[in-house]
Amino acid sequence: MVSDIRLFVEQEFQQKAQQYSAVLSSRGVKVNLEIIEKLNARFLRFHPELALCVDESGLWLCANGMKMQPDWKAEVPRLKRSSLKSEMIARACNLGEKPSLIDATAGLGHDSLLMAHLGANVTLVERHPILFTLLEDTKSNAESDPFLSSVVARIDLVFSDSADYLIYQAEKNAVVDVVYLDPMFPQRDQNQQAIKKQAQVKKQMQLLHMLLPEDGEMDLGDNLLILAQKVAKRVVVKRPRLAVYLADQEPNHQWQGDACRFDAYFQHHLVE
Ligand SMILES: C[S@@+](CC[C@H](N)C(=O)[O-])C[C@H]1O[C@@H](n2cnc3c(N)ncnc32)[C@H](O)[C@@H]1O
Repeated sequence: MVSDIRLFVEQEFQQKAQQYSAVLSSRGVKVNLEIIEKLNARFLRFHPELALCVDESGLWLCANGMKMQPDWKAEVPRLKRSSLKSEMIARACNLGEKPSLIDATAGLGHDSLLMAHLGANVTLVERHPILFTLLEDTKSNAESDPFLSSVVARIDLVFSDSADYLIYQAEKNAVVDVVYLDPMFPQRDQNQQAIKKQAQVKKQMQLLHMLLPEDGEMDLGDNLLILAQKVAKRVVVKRPRLAVYLADQEPNHQWQGDACRFDAYFQHHLVE
């Protein structure tokens, strides 16, 4: 995981950058703050290595001449088109029942934003300190958006490894309706096919792949399924369409889509 990273900022936003720097440092990231003259496309092209930058829109991840932050405002048209009937994730997670839900693999928070919009009360857990700090910023911006404010009021962010978080919930004998797991971004070589979406999405993926560990270096989430089954009435796992089962466990039910599927595991002993 990144523990040492440069942060570029123009003089004008230096104070803001120092605040981010302090927050990141409290989360174990050593930030080297560099005041620069002009944070523009040319500067980013000349500094292609992974870094952070701060401007009037807050904290960004930058690399390869691009910059990105989780963009929940850009999701609004998609949220407006969505419904409990049309979304496979809504059926898989039974969102019509307005469940309590732990999303144990937050990422950019897009799935959770949709689930909160469709009625879930979400605890969103992310372990990567930089991604978490970006999410926190995005959430706080969304709080002042007229459409998103009521949606993000149903999202709580937690900075933790989900394994620790789920163990803690189990120790308290807490029970939630759903734990949602989406441990893997599509692999780098699947990117072009799996994400035939807008250029914006491809850009976000490229930068995230640089930030997060290589697939081979990280756990693949198998442990999370077993822990989640101790605290959730229903565990829902998002998988690439043809991927093997998480933890080799055959699900009780599946919903198949074109690019991905949802595997559901029901814990009947937890349903009252
Ligand atoms: C594929 S992304 C999730 C994408 C997300 N569903 C979305 O809509 O943006 C997986 C994320 O889970 C996080 N993650 C993986 N294992 C984790 C764990 N044990 N605890 C917390 N976060 C974890 C990774 O850091 C990564 O950000």
